[in-house]
Amino acid sequence: MQLVNKARKDFPILKMEIYGKPLVYLDNGATTQKPQCVIDRVCNYYKSENSNIHRGEYYLCEIAGMAYEAAREKIKNYINAKNAYEVIFTSGTTASINLLAHSLGKSIRENDEIIISHMEHHSNIIPWQVLCREKNATLKILEIQEDEEATLEALNELISLRTRLISITCVSNALGTVLPFKKIIDVAHKNNIPVILDAAQAIQHMPMDVQDLDCDFMVFSGHKMYAGTGIGVLYGKAQHLEDLPPYQTGGGMIEQVSFSETKYAKLPYKFEAGTQNIAAAISLGEAVDYLTDIGLENIHEYEKELIQYASEQLNTISGMEQYSENTERAGAISFNIKDIHAYDIAMILDKLGIALRVGTHCAEPLMHHLGIKGTIRASFGLYNTKEDIDHLIKGLKKAISMLQ
Ligand code: ALA
Repeated sequence: MQLVNKARKDFPILKMEIYGKPLVYLDNGATTQKPQCVIDRVCNYYKSENSNIHRGEYYLCEIAGMAYEAAREKIKNYINAKNAYEVIFTSGTTASINLLAHSLGKSIRENDEIIISHMEHHSNIIPWQVLCREKNATLKILEIQEDEEATLEALNELISLRTRLISITCVSNALGTVLPFKKIIDVAHKNNIPVILDAAQAIQHMPMDVQDLDCDFMVFSGHKMYAGTGIGVLYGKAQHLEDLPPYQTGGGMIEQVSFSETKYAKLPYKFEAGTQNIAAAISLGEAVDYLTDIGLENIHEYEKELIQYASEQLNTISGMEQYSENTERAGAISFNIKDIHAYDIAMILDKLGIALRVGTHCAEPLMHHLGIKGTIRASFGLYNTKEDIDHLIKGLKKAISMLQ
């Protein structure tokens, strides 16, 4: 409780009223709000550090460059990477996955196979689908089961001598389901298959230690972990990143250029072509400090309580159908109410100051799998409270009484 009481004071937007009602922000899966320290850090950067890093010999370049590299170091510590140069800044999870699909994709051959799960966000489906089309390779889908062992068995059955890569989400953005990603990595590595973890919905909710997990790559976005938009991370084991060709080429990613050839820069710069989103990267460093101060274990425990409370309270509503109720969930709860359209509910909740997401959540294949058109998703951050959930339940009851 102490955690949340302090946190609520750190986020200025939470004091807002919407249509005269206090804001109840339950769309953290889409993006989190920003604490004052992150907002201040961006302002200060533009007020007194703004310059183009790694390109000038003057004072401003030096301090901005140092702040940018300090942010990389903070992220390295946050995910326990071995080296800071294994942390590549991108514009977000989508960009990180596209980078990998392009660069890893160069080595994919006809009849090779890539495995993803049926719970992926579109950003971890389409890049692989496009690659497989181009290369005449096959995209195989792992069905995540309620029973972990059954999932691993299904994975073992899917893996063949042609499997070149497994790319899976850690937590379903649409349902909050926590996948057995560590065990999936173990199975993959027994078969010498590299694994990409999409940690976009995990990195803000639980400790993600890349050395302990032994993942080959991990991707995530800054804006879902209390930093600004337009910044994300691709973590890769040094050897993998050394072996991969660059994605984008141009300024900043070179050591030497002539009209006949180019020598690429060392890691991480080989993958950071062009002027980066410097302010957002620095803001991500600040957000990481903020999260580290609170402690990911504490956040994880607190949010688990919230999810359990929300789940129990939702079940008091008649016609309630929760998805993934029997699996571990993190960050989100997804549901429908019998015979009522999710969009109608969302419109009424909005008027009550409650912000959440309805629809397919960029996970259409998962919705097809469940045989539904979409869900109502309440997704949580470290500043949400049981009172927020009570507001949601009250709002839902009101909406239902108006729509039935
Ligand atoms: N991927 C974000 C979400 O799940 C936008 O809402």
